[in-house]
Amino acid sequence: MAEAIIRGILAKGVAQKEDVTVGEPAEARRRHLTERYGVATMEENLRACQGAGLVLLAVKPQSLREIFQELQGRLKPSQSVLSIVAGARVKSLAQGLAHPNVIRAMPNTPAQIGAGVSVWTAASEVPKEAVQRARSILRALGEEVYVSDEKLIDMATALSASGPAYVFYFIESLIDAGVYLGMPRDMARTLAVETVLGSAHLVKASGSHPGQLRDKVTSPGGTTIEGLLQLEEGGFKAAVMKAVIAAYKKSLALGEG
Ligand SMILES: NC(=O)c1ccc[n+]([C@@H]2O[C@H](COP(=O)([O-])OP(=O)(O)OC[C@H]3O[C@@H](n4cnc5c(N)ncnc54)[C@H](OP(=O)(O)O)[C@@H]3O)[C@@H](O)[C@H]2O)c1
Repeated sequence: MAEAIIRGILAKGVAQKEDVTVGEPAEARRRHLTERYGVATMEENLRACQGAGLVLLAVKPQSLREIFQELQGRLKPSQSVLSIVAGARVKSLAQGLAHPNVIRAMPNTPAQIGAGVSVWTAASEVPKEAVQRARSILRALGEEVYVSDEKLIDMATALSASGPAYVFYFIESLIDAGVYLGMPRDMARTLAVETVLGSAHLVKASGSHPGQLRDKVTSPGGTTIEGLLQLEEGGFKAAVMKAVIAAYKKSLALGEG
């Protein structure tokens, strides 16, 4: 995710390579980031943060304790933190860092190609310029949705951050169905991807309820209604809803523990 953010902000001109310094423990990753993007890299996070207006935290939740040990009480009042760490609440980040200026965002993997959606919030202590800076970084990754209620970020973790996995699974299922019927795999892939992409664009562009659009493809006594009956019998909608609800519960549990 950190690499996707670096790529996005450099490509969109939100930052220049001279503005970015990466703290990264692995030598091979440091070399890769410098060679590919021309950004400065350092082994020590505290040194990497020096001079930064905005410190981006993009580690796995289990690495947070280590980060807190390094940075606790060492950030300047003028610095703000933008965290994308799953489950880590603004309050616990502020406590762990002993620093109140915390922005929390939840992007998703299509951010890698500028087609992501990020949901984010900021502590009231964060200066306006840092809030604007965070917004422009997230815009470089795709759409951004600001929320004042942090609970919506846990919900977004389950829906938009885990969501690409569900969509990939649906695409894979369509491809396998085509292959089962005897369609060449490449062709099934093209049809499945374009169908999902086009349908999503149509929902967005029309502003119609997805059910209304579904009705338009579903002729009485036709082929689509036969397929829809199978999805209904297979509990498709309930399975998708339960997947998001289960991911939400896990997100809450991660945040608590
Ligand atoms: N992937 C997603 O779709 C997504 C979406 C939203 C939010 N997030 C969140 O974003 C965070 C990063 O996820 P990811 O998928 O990008 O994970 P990742 O690929 O494992 O990236 C984590 C990076 O942090 C580095 N790191 C580990 N310990 C460190 C330390 N002490 N100091 C500095 N850097 C350290 C890792 O280096 P090494 O490889 O050397 O360990 C790695 O480069 C997670 O909290 C995740 O929940 C991910």
